[in-house]
Amino acid sequence: MPETVLDAAPVVRALHAAFCRDASRQELLQLAATKIRASGPPYTGVYLYMLHGQTLVLEAFDGRPTEHTEIPVGAGMCGRAVAERRDLNIPDVSQAEGYLACSVETKSELVVLIRRHDEILGQIDIDSDMHDPFTEAEQGAVTEVADALAALL
Ligand code: SME
Repeated sequence: MPETVLDAAPVVRALHAAFCRDASRQELLQLAATKIRASGPPYTGVYLYMLHGQTLVLEAFDGRPTEHTEIPVGAGMCGRAVAERRDLNIPDVSQAEGYLACSVETKSELVVLIRRHDEILGQIDIDSDMHDPFTEAEQGAVTEVADALAALL
């Protein structure tokens, strides 16, 4: 039984192969979103928000569309992760103060920062229809993809 739902290694390989084929920034971000979501539950929706000054801008996603295409640093779980410079694992969004709802079906959320040394480039934001699904190992698999993006963007 694998330790994680997301197997990061083939996603990282696909990103490197796309980079070697001169894929654009948007293509790399979209590839990451699509490959992560293809893992299946708990990956209901995968959103790549990139930091532009003090605003997180949605540059790629796979899953339910969202009205939150721009999020100020400090707002919602996404903005809070950047403000506090840390990943957020929210097991029950109904208990999260300041949460910005994308869908009434969403039960939990994982926000993993895309970091290059001390610089925050953006984040991988994951919505799940499952309650408390993200283990430390699962978060680590998403971090492997985030680290690959930090190296390739
Ligand atoms: N729930 C996030 C907003 C992004 S939508 O979920 C895609 C938040 O609270 O920041």
